[in-house]
Amino acid sequence: MSEIQLAGRVAVVTGAGQGMGRAIAQRLAAGGAKVAALDLNFEQAQESVAGCADPSVCMAYACNVSDSNAVNETFAAVESTLGPVSILVNNAGIGRAPGDGSDQMYELMGKRNEEMANGEEPKTHVDHIVFMEDEGWRDVMGVNLDGAFYCTRAAVRSMVNADIKGSIISISSTAAQSGEGPVHYVTSKAAIVGLTRALARELGSRGIRINAVAPGPTNTPIMNGIPEQWIKDMEAAIPLGRMAEPNEIADAVSWLASDASSMCTGSVLVANGGSYFF
Ligand SMILES: NC(=O)c1ccc[n+]([C@@H]2O[C@H](COP(=O)([O-])OP(=O)(O)OC[C@H]3O[C@@H](n4cnc5c(N)ncnc54)[C@H](O)[C@@H]3O)[C@@H](O)[C@H]2O)c1
Repeated sequence: MSEIQLAGRVAVVTGAGQGMGRAIAQRLAAGGAKVAALDLNFEQAQESVAGCADPSVCMAYACNVSDSNAVNETFAAVESTLGPVSILVNNAGIGRAPGDGSDQMYELMGKRNEEMANGEEPKTHVDHIVFMEDEGWRDVMGVNLDGAFYCTRAAVRSMVNADIKGSIISISSTAAQSGEGPVHYVTSKAAIVGLTRALARELGSRGIRINAVAPGPTNTPIMNGIPEQWIKDMEAAIPLGRMAEPNEIADAVSWLASDASSMCTGSVLVANGGSYFF
């Protein structure tokens, strides 16, 4: 791909301590951006910054994106240290939380798979919602959706104050379209598409663009704990035959962050190897 030029732009990346967020932070830095790497895990965010093209113009911040005050304080710190925000990547996300019934769901799914593997008519139902407590639902929505809202609002305030035609990218998921996955996660990722479309209309007159990237299965630590056989089955169902690597998602994000995508707003860029078509 042609070189992405982001020289001097301030880019905030959430969940930048590992996985896709780390790859995105480092990709934007390679394009010349001054990156603010936000994560719950400060040490890992620091490691991400250390791997940036010019770590001296990037900063790590400890920030829980589901905490509105913490987000506002962090953006104020970013503005005073690095300058007004031109790029935001809402990447922080979780797929499970305590009290969300994931353990029961995995157990039931294992049983059902076993029944099918034995050639039996499956009797076990995987009704995950039955085991999902309010707390588990709220935590996932709090990070994936509220977090994206709080960060987007803070970034737009910064862009409006400094009259910047910025670019905001949020990480949705193929699950938003396919419906495959736990209900809190799928709902939050579908809501990201709504946030993107509503704000594309609202902010277009200012030249602020907002897009989403919808990855399919991607080789990051979020995949840890998923049984190996399920991963194999998942990959077998992908036309390109494999999961994405974090760098491949980072390339899609950096294109949307740059002027190379200047006519794109409100779009969902699908990067899933053909596993689902939007
Ligand atoms: N990996 C996949 O297969 C896949 C597929 C589609 C979409 N996604 C989405 O891509 C994004 C990145 O996924 P990943 O696979 O790199 O995940 P990951 O679990 O490897 O990394 C997520 C990072 O976010 C941080 N984080 C979690 N909660 C946070 C909070 N409240 N505040 C700040 N930081 C927080 C974690 O500390 C971690 O560093 C997520 O939004 C995820 O839902 C992932």
